[in-house]
Amino acid sequence: PAYTLYSAALPIPVAATPKYKITNPVTQKEIWYYEFEIKPLTQQVYPKLKPARLVGYDGKSPGPTIIVPKGTETVVRFVNSADRQNSVHLHGSPSRAPFDGWAADITNPGEYKDYYYPNYQSARFLWYHDHALHWTAENAYFGQAGAYLITDPEEDRLGLPSGYGKQDIPLVLSSKQYNSDGTLFSTQGEDKSLWGDVIHVNGEPWPFQNVEPRKYRFRFLNAAVSRNFDLFFVTSTATNTRIPFKVIASDAGLLEAPIQASDLKVAVAERYEVVFDFSQYAGKTLYLRNDEDAGGVGVDEAYDNTYQVMKFVVSSKPVTDTSKVPSTLRTVPFPPAGHTTIDHQFRFHRSGGEWKINGVGFADAANRVLAKVPRGKVEIWELENSSGGWTHPIHIHLVDFRVIQRNGRGVEPYESAGLKDVVWLGKNEVVLVEAHYAPWNGVYMFHCHNLIHEDQDASFFPRRQSVAC
Ligand code: C2O
Repeated sequence: PAYTLYSAALPIPVAATPKYKITNPVTQKEIWYYEFEIKPLTQQVYPKLKPARLVGYDGKSPGPTIIVPKGTETVVRFVNSADRQNSVHLHGSPSRAPFDGWAADITNPGEYKDYYYPNYQSARFLWYHDHALHWTAENAYFGQAGAYLITDPEEDRLGLPSGYGKQDIPLVLSSKQYNSDGTLFSTQGEDKSLWGDVIHVNGEPWPFQNVEPRKYRFRFLNAAVSRNFDLFFVTSTATNTRIPFKVIASDAGLLEAPIQASDLKVAVAERYEVVFDFSQYAGKTLYLRNDEDAGGVGVDEAYDNTYQVMKFVVSSKPVTDTSKVPSTLRTVPFPPAGHTTIDHQFRFHRSGGEWKINGVGFADAANRVLAKVPRGKVEIWELENSSGGWTHPIHIHLVDFRVIQRNGRGVEPYESAGLKDVVWLGKNEVVLVEAHYAPWNGVYMFHCHNLIHEDQDASFFPRRQSVAC
């Protein structure tokens, strides 16, 4: 169905309130306790059609945003009041294995599970989403995804634009497809991708946001099932002149220094944070656009509106902006220099109608442990895309990695200036990533974050899941 672009304001996901706070008797650290009920909600996307029926954390999509200071532990009870199994993964957190959302660690309808999160990392933008075996794509797409921010005093001291929902705004991107009656098209039955033709930001299709002529911090998360984005800002829908901005952070928090860019590639599950300065645009309207095609479909302006994302309406009233973007942001804890050996090679491909890593799928329990890294070791992994025209966003749980090279050359400056947990593995690319495999022992997932690919394994056609590490 047709949709009127920029007709609704950008929603800001509500900041979650802990139910109570206690002191951990062993560590003497505070623990904040939250309770989220996974339950249905409806969203009226097309005014004259049926509402879409979603299932979200606390009945919201995106779920409530947890904002926690570094060093404060959290326990989150996820109560399953949906009609399907779930498992919750806090993406980017070095959670201990029992709390990491292993695909087969299922919570059934009517049950709950308490997840314990350490939050000892530096300030960063994590996100939580469903990870249930065979159901990850459908559950995340129907609403089970939310933002999770760790803050710390070092970052606060920099004086970046701040205030959650004010000058520090999460922009959770997704891309969905609707049926002609207004309900959401299901991912069930898809075995290659679900690109979606309706772009959402914070759950709202093509929203607008009123801003002041000053600097803003935007935290991008690509929470789509399959679609990757190449984002840029323009002053009108008729121009292709891109307005530069500063990239300040990625998956694992602040970069070493801000990187000026005029476009930003955000694969599924990646986070990038930018500071955009509206001070030169008082009284104007700006647009956030997308220039990444979807599996060869192309960003076709005649075909659909997937080249548009959202609109910013800049007020003409001058304001005083005391925020800044310092020229150095922090010392990033890259893996120690000197390691050059390639420790593992992984090939991402499709065979026998399944997505596989080195010929193995998740259902192949005897072979699915693809790497046994001694705890504390630094390793370089080679990730090779041998699946033709596909892009695979590759995610390794537990660790932050450095993206070293792509096809034997350097990588985007904003990729290499910080640490990441997802890497854009483009068509026919070979990428090297280096990580310090710590701090815990345990079995962790390692997979393509195109959720259709992730769900694939031979045990449950058409829902299947790829591989573990
Ligand atoms: Cu974002 Cu294995 O997950």
